[in-house]
Order: sequence, then structure tokens, then C-alpha cells
Amino acid sequence: MCGIVGYIGNKNCVPILINGLKRLEYRGYDSAGIGILQDQKSLVIKNKGKVTLLEERIQNLNLISNVGIAHTRWATHGIPNELNAHPHSNHDGTLFIIHNGIIENFLVLKKNLLNQGYRFNSETDSEVLVHLIDSFIKEGNDLTKSVQLALNEVAGTYGLAVIYSGEPDKIVAARKGSPLVVGLGENENFIASDVSAILSHTKQVVYLEDGEVAVITKNSFNAKTIYNKEIEKEVHEITLTLEEIDKGGYPHFMLKEIMEQPETVRNSLRGRIVLDEGTSKLGGLIDVIDRLINAKRIIITACGTSWHAGLVGEYMIEQFCRIPTEVEYASEFRYRNPIVNKEDAILFISQSGETADTLAALQEAKMKGALVLGICNVVGSSIARETNSGVYTHAGPEIGVASTKAFTSQLVVLALISLLIARRKNMSLVDGKALAEEILAIPDKIESILKLNDKIEQIAEEFKNAKNFLYLGRGYNFPVALEGALKLKEISYIHAEGYPAAEMKHGPIALIDENMPAIFIAPKDSTYEKIISNIQEVKARGGRIIAIANEDDNEIDKLVDFSIKIPQTIRMLMPILTVIPLQLLAYHIAVKKGLNVDQPRNLAKSVTVE
Ligand code: F6R
Repeated sequence: MCGIVGYIGNKNCVPILINGLKRLEYRGYDSAGIGILQDQKSLVIKNKGKVTLLEERIQNLNLISNVGIAHTRWATHGIPNELNAHPHSNHDGTLFIIHNGIIENFLVLKKNLLNQGYRFNSETDSEVLVHLIDSFIKEGNDLTKSVQLALNEVAGTYGLAVIYSGEPDKIVAARKGSPLVVGLGENENFIASDVSAILSHTKQVVYLEDGEVAVITKNSFNAKTIYNKEIEKEVHEITLTLEEIDKGGYPHFMLKEIMEQPETVRNSLRGRIVLDEGTSKLGGLIDVIDRLINAKRIIITACGTSWHAGLVGEYMIEQFCRIPTEVEYASEFRYRNPIVNKEDAILFISQSGETADTLAALQEAKMKGALVLGICNVVGSSIARETNSGVYTHAGPEIGVASTKAFTSQLVVLALISLLIARRKNMSLVDGKALAEEILAIPDKIESILKLNDKIEQIAEEFKNAKNFLYLGRGYNFPVALEGALKLKEISYIHAEGYPAAEMKHGPIALIDENMPAIFIAPKDSTYEKIISNIQEVKARGGRIIAIANEDDNEIDKLVDFSIKIPQTIRMLMPILTVIPLQLLAYHIAVKKGLNVDQPRNLAKSVTVE
């Protein structure tokens, strides 16, 4: 996720900014940059890759300045490269900006600015901000007013900081939907997207709220709204340690990533639903949409958790788009000379975008002439670059080895793709709108499930010594059973199997006794009655049962030992909700067993070997 740090004061800002960026590295990034004012002139240096590379590049330049801003970028619009890295400057290099977030209406703003004669150097949405602010300065406004006027035209999210050589004594910063904090020191002040970047300098901070603009000089700080209303801000004293802060106050990245899913799902959806038309808007598919809609067959290829997302995708696409869909392990696809036609569309799902098996399967499919599309989290990753088109999940960097937030974002993107195709085929406007509304309601529902964390932890305490687990689900929730079992296996080292619940009687039922806990994913859908029969079968054999059920289901409590109740949604979206308690259960069991949940044994975050 992008990082921001800024300094104004009596000291040389360069080492302060570089150290601040290093403190933000744990969040993941793909490029870094710094912008300072030196002798009233601005200087911007940026590169793809690590902060240490930036540091090496500026080492011999003898840069000394009392005011500057710096950024680590996690690409959303435009691949990671020097031009797309921040800061972005205006034409004469007098104004520069760093920005976190997504400007949803950047295409409209860009068109207006192009008409006014502005030229763009990057593919980013962020660059529109610098030219927009510049256009207001050219009209005679000061920097603060120009930032306010620009932000009144912007739809989307931002945490930003701006410096202007015409007013070298200040940094102007603003926030909406992307965190920003001001650090207060003695004859120096700071700005950062995350307190960890400035904590070694000050513990006195002011948190900006949405729609607020801060003006920071070396001796003063004041805040206004983007409509120029003065506001009083409270100063907070930071008590957390640096290590606690890196993980957002959570003990592990995995828990942090589970807990941030309402936000990551919102990010996956941002600007992509067109409610009036009951459809979705996916810029990365514009050039191929006709070929996709007319595909005779869709094949989804991936590994691990991403493969589970693919299985849910198969159900979605076949139900709504009526296109025959198959899901295949990338490792199998690449070696078995699959039948691939030019009329096939092949979707490659990968969080990292670097998984060797998925990449090799992609090359094979490309060679055979199919339409190849990516669903990746890491912008500019190999799979994202090698596919003709695709959709980014925008879940932000996933650091915990066990994939959590990437999975739910993959499901959201698959739902958006299904909606887009279905509306272009035979879904009505009314049905499209209903589906779009259900998708938009998902983040709030995830929030309510996360409130069950304490209860799930208690259930984990009950089951932490189990040696085996069965996960059972039907229809859309069968892949969730697989995913729940995988989460438990990889971080707790407990043997776990996922099955379609009806398959139990064809073999696995032989395993059931009082030592074999079974987790049933049993929301109220068309398979509910059948799954209740499966629960009875396990109960009759003395198995202990945990059920993931709907909030209004009181009957199920008579049959099971523990229930975790979640809100209702339509069948297709249910996996995005049912997986959350399973992620938390696996997490708590592993923690109670004293295991390293963020880096489980034998596993790597990105599997770049066969
Ligand atoms: C499980 C997990 C792995 C990955 C798999 C594919 O928690 O993280 O199973 O899902 O290695 O990785 P990506 O999605 O990066 O291709």
C-alpha cells in the first residue's frame, strides 16, 4: 500500500524522509520517490524498486533541504516504473504532489486538463491532481485554496501532500478515505500516512479526518475542510511501540489482513459498479469485452487459494452468464497439452502475479491463441503484464503467507465480471440492479461478521487439540470448505479435508467419531435441507459440529455443538461471507498452538518455482 512521509523544519529533510520511507516498507510497495525544495527550486528523484536504490542514487548529490515529501507506491493505475512513481510535478517543476488512494473521475478530469493544454507524463490517476491544483494556482489562488478547489472536483479517495516553490514555507496535505497523520515537533512538523514513519521524531500527532486539509509550516499547523471551514483538532499522544504499529496494532499481519477486509473489498469495488445501469465497469476488459461475451468456453486456471476463488467463479459464470466454465490447476494445465481454442477465454487468477505454474500455463494458453485475462493483486506483476487484459483486485499488499483478503477480493472481481457479462447477455436491468446492490452491501456484512472474533476465539480454544478436521459445504460453499481446510492446514499443521457435503457418505463418513470435528457451511439456500440431513448423519456418529449459519437460523442450534451466525446475502456472494469465520478460526487455532501464523513452515508467499 502506498506510503507518505513529509517534513518541514530546521533539519535536513533528506535522511528523515528516507528513514521514514524505510519504516513504511513493510506495507509493500513497488517504487519510491522524494521531492524537496532546494534554493527555491524543486528537485524530484524517483525510481522503480527499493528505497535503498533511491538512497544510493541521492547519496552523492549532496541534497540539503528543510522541506520535502516522499512516497512509496503500490501501483493501481499504470505499471511500476519511474514515470508512474511519485512525486508528480507540474510542467515547470514548481509544484509536486504525492498521493495515496484512487481518483475515480480521473479520466474526465484528465480530458478537461488536456483540453487546457496540460500534458501528462504518467499513466497514473494521481497526476491529474498536480495539474488540477496548478490550474487553480494559475488563476491566482494561493496553494491552500488551490488544493481545496481541486479536491472539490475530485471523486475518489486521497491522502496527499503538496509542495509549491512559490510558497516554500509550507506543506499542504489532505485526506479522504486514505489515512494521514500530522506529527508535531519543536520547530519542525511532519506528515505521514502511518505514524510508524515519524514515531522516532515525535509522539504528538493529529489525525486528519475525511475532507480535511492541513497546512503545516515549521512552527504551525492548522486544519480546514475542503470547503474552507476552520476546524479545531485534538492532539494525541502515541503509546504504541513501532512493532505494534507496523501491524496496525494487531499481533500478526494475518489478523490485520482478515480485519481489513471490509476496506479491501470496498477498494476492489471502488468506481466499478454502475448502479443506474445495473452493471459493472471494468476498464481492463474494455478492449476484449466482445470476445469475452462471445467465448464458447471459459477456463479458469490458478493455484491454491486463487484456485478456490476460481471454483466459485465457475459457479458464478455458469449461473449468470451461461457460458460453460472449467477450472483447472495451473500445474496440471501446463503439462497435459490441454485442448484450447481461439474461441476460449482463459482467466488466470493470482494474488502475486508471479506464481510459476500459473505463469507457465498462461504462456501455454497464449501460444494456443486463446484470449488470456488476468485477475491479479500486484500491479505490473508478470501475469498482469503477460495477459491481454484483466482486472486488478486492489486488495493492497498481502504480507501474511496465508492468503485471506486477496481471496475475498478475487471473489468480488469474479462477481463484477459475471455481472458485466450477464448484463451484456440476458440479465434484465432489474436483476442487474438487485445484484449490484447486494454486492455493494457486502463490506458492511463482513464488518458485522468480524465482530464475532471473540466468539470464534472461544471455539478455537475448544478445538485447538484436534488432530483432524472435516470441512463440508455444498454448491457455492463447497470451494469455501476447501479454502477453510487449506487455511487450517497451512498455519496450524492440523490435517483438514474439504468435501462437498453430499460426498461424505461416499467415504469420509468412515472417519467420523468424537475426535473428528466437522465444520458445516450451512447458510439458508436451496441446498439447506440437504445439508441439515448431512449434519444429522455426522451427529448420529458422535461427531462434534461447528456450523456457519444465517443469523435467523435458530433451528440449527438444536443439532450442532457450536454455531457462528452470519448475515444473509444471495447465494453467489455467500462465499465472501462464509469464508471469514473460517479464516478467523484457523488463525486462532494456530495462535493457540503457539505457531508462527505469518510465516508458516515450508511455505513462501510467492511460489516462483515449480
Ligand atoms: C494459500 C496461499 C497459496 C496461494 C497460491 C497461489 O493461503 O496463499 O495457496 O494462493 O500459492 O498464489 P498466487 O495467488 O499468488 O498465484
